[in-house]
Amino acid sequence: MPSASESPYAIRATDIHLTYRTTMDVNPTLKTSVSRIFGGRREVRTIEALKGVSIDVPRGGVLGVIGHNGAGKSTLLRVLAGILPPTSGKVEVYGEISTLLSLGLGFNRNLSGRENVMLGGLAAGLTRPEIRERFDEIVAFSGLEEFIDFPVRAYSSGMTGRLAFSVSVHMDPDILLVDEALSAGDASFKKKATMKMRELCDKAGSIVLVSHALQSVRELSTECILLDHGNLVAAGEPRPVIKEYQRRINVGEEASTTEDL
Ligand SMILES: Nc1ncnc2c1ncn2[C@@H]1O[C@H](COP(=O)(O)OP(=O)(O)OP(=O)(O)O)[C@@H](O)[C@H]1O
Ligand SMILES: [Mg+2]
Repeated sequence: MPSASESPYAIRATDIHLTYRTTMDVNPTLKTSVSRIFGGRREVRTIEALKGVSIDVPRGGVLGVIGHNGAGKSTLLRVLAGILPPTSGKVEVYGEISTLLSLGLGFNRNLSGRENVMLGGLAAGLTRPEIRERFDEIVAFSGLEEFIDFPVRAYSSGMTGRLAFSVSVHMDPDILLVDEALSAGDASFKKKATMKMRELCDKAGSIVLVSHALQSVRELSTECILLDHGNLVAAGEPRPVIKEYQRRINVGEEASTTEDL
């Protein structure tokens, strides 16, 4: 496998299938939970979340991933991150990945912001002195100086998202995977985060951005893919891919300005 600097791609994923196996009640009724105690029937069902998806994430680019709820976007990110092994298909990653899969996932809500920054840094493979060196910058970027010693459970969802984003981008990743993490951020933080993501791309970093905020996707992405029921149904320039999504869900153009798809 070529090293990070030799490959034109940050990630290549080929023909990815991901099937979840989950149990469900057969003939569910209100009594099911009671009857289960007496041996009520449960069956294993499968959900094909990804049905043969292939993508290339270019170095120094942002790949936007859009699609309806349940389309398979988060599943794709988990596969790219190596959290979920694909049922079949191949994922090649060239570089260090930092993931921001959902708001503060990985944060211990009973620990302070400060402790979570330290733990996040250690989890990303930094040494304690390296984290200490970056600590002030991480906190300053999040704008949470006054709250950094409060437990994270006392943070609003936007505040949690700010800190999580700040930790992820300050790990100097080659590849940043972001799943809706900015959705709770206010306008000023979104602007800061957008600038930071551009900076990362200028340094040849790559980003995969899952979002329903179509305007942000249009502004940030260099390429875009549309998932529909686990299939990749459109790929290429962000504008036509977003248009195709709007056509499919029949909401018209206005939805991309209200940022609520
Ligand atoms: N842990 C799981 N176990 C079983 N099925 C799952 C699991 N996670 C997701 N799924 C199923 O896989 C499909 C894709 O889900 P996924 O979370 O990837 O969608 P998404 O595009 O991220 O949706 P959203 O826009 O709502 O975040 C859905 O049908 C969902 O029900
Ligand atoms: Mg999702």
